[in-house]
Amino acid sequence: MEKVTTLGEFIIERQQDYPGSTGEFSRLLSAIRLASKIVSHQINKAGLLNDILGAAESENIQGEQQQKLDIFANNQFIKALEKRKVICGIASEENEDFIPLNKEGKYIVSMDPLDGSSNIDVNVSVGTIFSIYERISPQGQPVELTDFLQEGNKQVAAGYVIYGSSTMLVYSTGNGVNGFTYDPGIGVFVLSHPNMKFPATGKIYSMNEGNFFNCSVGVQNYIKYAQTIDKATNRPFTGRYIGSLVADFHRNLIKGGIYIYPATQSAPNGKLRLLYECNPIAYIAEQAGGTASDGATRILDIKPTELHQRVPLYTGIKSMVNKAEEILKAN
Ligand code: AHG
Ligand code: MN
Ligand code: MN
Ligand code: MN
Repeated sequence: MEKVTTLGEFIIERQQDYPGSTGEFSRLLSAIRLASKIVSHQINKAGLLNDILGAAESENIQGEQQQKLDIFANNQFIKALEKRKVICGIASEENEDFIPLNKEGKYIVSMDPLDGSSNIDVNVSVGTIFSIYERISPQGQPVELTDFLQEGNKQVAAGYVIYGSSTMLVYSTGNGVNGFTYDPGIGVFVLSHPNMKFPATGKIYSMNEGNFFNCSVGVQNYIKYAQTIDKATNRPFTGRYIGSLVADFHRNLIKGGIYIYPATQSAPNGKLRLLYECNPIAYIAEQAGGTASDGATRILDIKPTELHQRVPLYTGIKSMVNKAEEILKAN
């Protein structure tokens, strides 16, 4: 049999890279792995189960109608994480306030349990996004809001799960990005995409262009730039937009491109949330040789002021994001 590396083995191997490591962090990652498997299993058969498709009767703090799978995924991740004593608190898109857990725990997790929920009912890829920090308040005391409001550059790990044509878990602990594909036959994630890097050049741009007249002249000019014919720079680019950040980002990471969710008139800070969407995606982007900004400032250097804060997002291949920033600046 061909040598395969499972996510479990990989976590143990990498643990040995950190002298003095106590295994706490590995336990946290294995909780995420477990919850991903449960959510993946449920999503794969969602079309068969009436009680899991469709909208729930509740709204979240964002004013969005929650989908049943938003709630299911949120509960699964919380359940898996609270069992591991290493976590002192969780912030989630689906919970107004952070959830305090074990006072002795060393880590906090911010998460988007189900990303792209508008795509669930139509069998299109969705995801989970997670971001991990060491707490700054002392162990032994209840977790505090300030533990969650750390800059993205303080993340100790981040990643996402994509529930697509296959389920993949992609994560980084600050030493490159690795992708694992789930084999449902044997119930394990297998290392399939070691050391993921953006290609040197790309030609995909991803934005909800329904917002064209709703955004600044700078953003409109970037879209026009992307659509202009110019052989030397391989334009026009190809427009691809799924409407699940995880899936759009994942495709652009592999094929080469830029993802944009700009500020709009109706959403002056953009739509995506800094703590559990933009920061983890920015961390992965940088670890894969790409970049992420709000159009002017590095995402990972933004000081968060609230749990559900939104920021515009431009992420992907460095040269493409830099070009977008240059065009924005000129307007
Ligand atoms: P979520 O489903 O977690 O609320 O996230 C939705 C986000 C993101 O996944 C996606 O990229 C974006 O919303 C799509 O927004 P538009 O429908 O405005 O394009
Ligand atoms: Mn939502
Ligand atoms: Mn999301
Ligand atoms: Mn979500």
